Amino acid sequence: MDVRTALKNGIAQLREGGVASYTLAAELLLLHVLGRNRTWIYAHPEESIAGPDEQRFFELIARRIAGEPTQHLTGKQEFWGLELEVTPDVLIPRPETEHIIEVALDRLAVREVRAGRRNKNDGAGLLIADIGTGSGCIAIALAKELPAAQFVATDSSPNALVVAGRNAVRHGVDGRIQFVEADLLDRTSVPDVTGEWLSARVVSSEPISGDEADLPLFDVIASNPPYIGRREAESLPREVREHEPEIALYGGEEGYEFYAALISQAAQHLKPGGILVLELGYNSLPAVQPLLESTDWSNVGVTNDLAGIPRVIAAEKN
Ligand SMILES: C[S@@+](CC[C@H](N)C(=O)[O-])C[C@H]1O[C@@H](n2cnc3c(N)ncnc32)[C@H](O)[C@@H]1O
Repeated sequence: MDVRTALKNGIAQLREGGVASYTLAAELLLLHVLGRNRTWIYAHPEESIAGPDEQRFFELIARRIAGEPTQHLTGKQEFWGLELEVTPDVLIPRPETEHIIEVALDRLAVREVRAGRRNKNDGAGLLIADIGTGSGCIAIALAKELPAAQFVATDSSPNALVVAGRNAVRHGVDGRIQFVEADLLDRTSVPDVTGEWLSARVVSSEPISGDEADLPLFDVIASNPPYIGRREAESLPREVREHEPEIALYGGEEGYEFYAALISQAAQHLKPGGILVLELGYNSLPAVQPLLESTDWSNVGVTNDLAGIPRVIAAEKN
């Protein structure tokens, strides 16, 4: 079978199977099987596909129709222009989470201007936390943008931390991100920004001891916490409900349950003037905004995503 026919048949099967974005999914699966890029596929429609590749392609099409996300079949997803490994142990990074990166960088830039510094900020001296790092997408994207900043990325899932660690290595930022198994920020070690520990271990799945007084103060805390309500589970697309980790999806019965603890931990662990950036569920804003209406916080701002949904809330620690 040639490339054009395989693609045409793959698209038709996905469409009949009720798969959303069927053309893109068929293309991505074919690119994956052939190890080619998109341009090659459209430049070589007559090229014939080897039997085993054809078989593998239609097996993947069948698995997609049975509900597996395309990203689990290809093992990757792009985020902030970076190709990241994804497995069933991590949330597949979503495009709306890129607003976290934009807001964090914008707020840091404003801070630099306020301090009278005009050069491009490379993040020197900054310590940034990513809580619930999953694939590592937020910490890694920020680490690429701020090549001198240092990071602590936490997750309560040791399996997610292993994937995040591999992604950090893949993008050459593993020396600046310490991955820590923690409940939000609890059990974070004391980072010595100039010390050895950052390179000492890429992935830590062991609890690191240290009492509350030892916890570090951060310049930025970013998080995309689990924020879907369990009561909404039945309305989720099947590929999400059945294939993405529950621990990454559900914040509680309502969905917004994580924010109170996150915001109170952030208030303890941000430097004065430090920046908090949180992703919001589509209906979380009314529950979350009041939590930042306290004397701990100022400059609260909300950013909408491309669909007009309030997606990111940010604030500055007083
Ligand atoms: C919505 S996912 C976000 C993953 C990634 N940051 C992203 O934006 O794609 C939430 C992440 O928080 C982690 N998580 C859930 N409960 C947690 C907790 N109590 N402490 C730390 N991480 C937690 C999950 O394992 C998951 O990786």
